[in-house]
Amino acid sequence: MSPQSITELTIRRPDDWHLHLRDGEMLKGVIGDSSRHFARAIIMPNLVPPVVTTADATAYRERIMAALPKGDRFEPLMTLYLTEGTNPDDVEAGHESGLITAVKLYPAGATTNSHGGVRNIDKAMPVLERMARIGLPLCVHGEVTTPEVDIFDREAVFIETVLDPLRTRLPELKVTMEHVTTKDGIDYIKASKGNLAGSITTHHLIINRNALLVGGIRPHYYCLPVAKREVHRLALRAAATSGDARFFLGTDSAPHVDPMKECACGCAGIYTSINTMNCLAHVFEQEDALDRLEAFASLNGPAWYGLPVNEETITLCKQAEAVTFPGKIETEAGTVTVFDPMFPLHWNVV
Ligand code: NCD
Ligand code: ZN
Repeated sequence: MSPQSITELTIRRPDDWHLHLRDGEMLKGVIGDSSRHFARAIIMPNLVPPVVTTADATAYRERIMAALPKGDRFEPLMTLYLTEGTNPDDVEAGHESGLITAVKLYPAGATTNSHGGVRNIDKAMPVLERMARIGLPLCVHGEVTTPEVDIFDREAVFIETVLDPLRTRLPELKVTMEHVTTKDGIDYIKASKGNLAGSITTHHLIINRNALLVGGIRPHYYCLPVAKREVHRLALRAAATSGDARFFLGTDSAPHVDPMKECACGCAGIYTSINTMNCLAHVFEQEDALDRLEAFASLNGPAWYGLPVNEETITLCKQAEAVTFPGKIETEAGTVTVFDPMFPLHWNVV
């Protein structure tokens, strides 16, 4: 059967290799949208204050498990927020105990709640060296934040001035380039000789920067890294649907309440947990690559992180009627707008 004629697809249960669950009432309001479809997720540590120690991560994991809807099985894979003061012994202990799956590098000021991030990577070298030794991956938000660099060039400049020098200095370090948004990023990963992989979000496969700016400014399409030109979106789609084991799903689903986005200085973040699998099936069908959706969403990520694949499966069905999602979800923290892919979705998770 050619992929185009497929109307039902069963794949191993997917994982989300980059997720913002937040805390408190927001956590309670959004976690069910991830645990419904995903077995595991890498949980971003950019809370206020951030998750910087193993003790912080232990406590945060407990809050996540307490918020999980009854009966759902979901494993949060915890990360630590790298600071210039991170203690290598604490990181190693967290990894050894099985709690910590990765450490996250946010260049200072790169995105929401990243002011405590790393300013001078030299200061983080002791912990990065330890991570290289123990095989603990570094997840990077790959953007420079120097004001001279145009926001659309931040990723390419990061690769040239931070990532490549770091990988040359410490080739044993495993690096995940998270939410790759440019052809430059894709090409850099493809040219690498190992120890480098990239996650790709759902929304960057669907929108380019026009979604954000044409016909009026649309804050619900604003995220960081910001969506780029069409040529970049096409490169991301080609990589995601290629089956190349170095690319996998990280939704970067990042809920903010509407008033924080619909204002003069709106927050970055797009909420996609609820409809990601529906959107991805649509994209992979458009690319005639439904047979490679499982690699992207369920196989390549665990292989990279050295974890077993999920034994459970989910089934996606294509239906004649469009599947509808609420435009907004209500949480006790406030209303969150759901990502609108701007086309009808016909794939549903049954
Ligand atoms: C994220 C958030 O809101 O925490 N926002 C986003 O646009 N992706 C931060 C991040 O991961 O960059
Ligand atoms: Zn993120």
